[in-house]
Amino acid sequence: MCRVRSGIPAAKHGKWTPAKAPAKKSGNGNSAAAARGKELFDKKCGICHYADNDQKKIGPGLKGISKRGTFTVNNNKVTDESLKTWIENGDTLMPPFKDVLEPAQIKDVIAYVKTL
Ligand code: HEC
Repeated sequence: MCRVRSGIPAAKHGKWTPAKAPAKKSGNGNSAAAARGKELFDKKCGICHYADNDQKKIGPGLKGISKRGTFTVNNNKVTDESLKTWIENGDTLMPPFKDVLEPAQIKDVIAYVKTL
């Protein structure tokens, strides 16, 4: 596996904890969904996507995607709906997840991705 990359000193800690907590928290019950989403992300998406930076792994790093507001792949606006469509269907380079994840799980993953 290619999880440990040179140049990322924090890798040896196993779990990477940012010095500062993310500034924005929706705090309206979404954090439980985001926590579930993180687990799913680590299992299903983390092999191809970094969650803690925007560098390319197999696919683009997803850090900051919500703040940026647009997909790098197609310039679409980042919304619950566009993320859902993307995750369900993938594209030529990313596998579709509609037969892999339950709709509720896709929602949770979206809640998590939006916190990145
Ligand atoms: C087998 C590798 C792979 C897996 C697993 C994978 N992706 Fe992707 N993903 C990609 C690739 C490759 C792209 C870029 C597609 C392109 O350039 O056309 C991408 C693109 C994306 C994008 C668009 C990013 C941008 O900046 O435009 C999002 C969002 C995304 N993936 C989310 C997910 C989520 C959420 C999961 C888990 C449910 C996931 N991906 C699982 C390979 C993967």
